[in-house]
Amino acid sequence: MGRKIEIFTQLHQKTARKYVDRMVDSKVECMEVAKKYGQEFWDGDRRYGYGGYRYDGRWERVARELIEIYGLKENAKILDVGCGKAFLLYELSKLLPKCEIVGFDVSQYAICNAKEEIRENLFVYDAKDPLPFGDKEFDLVVSLGTLHNLPLYHLKTAFSEIERVGKEGYIMVEAYRNSQELFNLQCWALTCESFFRPDEWIWYMRECGYRGDYEFIYFE
Ligand SMILES: C[S@@+](CC[C@H](N)C(=O)[O-])C[C@H]1O[C@@H](n2cnc3c(N)ncnc32)[C@H](O)[C@@H]1O
Repeated sequence: MGRKIEIFTQLHQKTARKYVDRMVDSKVECMEVAKKYGQEFWDGDRRYGYGGYRYDGRWERVARELIEIYGLKENAKILDVGCGKAFLLYELSKLLPKCEIVGFDVSQYAICNAKEEIRENLFVYDAKDPLPFGDKEFDLVVSLGTLHNLPLYHLKTAFSEIERVGKEGYIMVEAYRNSQELFNLQCWALTCESFFRPDEWIWYMRECGYRGDYEFIYFE
């Protein structure tokens, strides 16, 4: 079974969050809007999602760490499941100009508004479906902040397909370790469908045959 690693946590912890304020701000309506993953989620008001998700270079460190941890070579082939605006893939393509990057996301808005330089490597697709790739086609498959948005019955295909198409995997999902973090997560999350503790995530990944690495982020 894979390793528990910490790459994204530093970025996650930089954001200040007022949990209860969000919970009492028409949260049900905001969740319905957010779950469409349209303009409002990415670049609309903060109550619907990111509140403006623009390129600012913060993914460069994450890309560098991935290259180091997974020993990615110049011509590595990398897939991002739920790539969003694909800032991570963009950084990887700058650091490894000969690498082959592929990304998909269920959000048409995100793909259409991804960095122009790499947009042709991206497509709209749902992680719940079998992936249109061959066995072990990618050196690394990553999925950051995406899979907790799938209900349990869709996670099975998602985990097993990531395992099938990648030689290595790195998945980051939201989780909680205690009642306070569960409360905070439930206040904050607009799109999350699967709320699990780390041991539950790991147990289910194993059940689905996923043997890659994982990271959990918490709402402390
Ligand atoms: C928190 S964002 C993370 C985006 C990107 N990985 C990043 O870190 O910038 C969650 C992403 O999951 C995507 N998503 C949600 N459900 C999905 C699904 N069933 N299949 C593919 N992508 C999905 C959303 O569109 C969104 O891009």
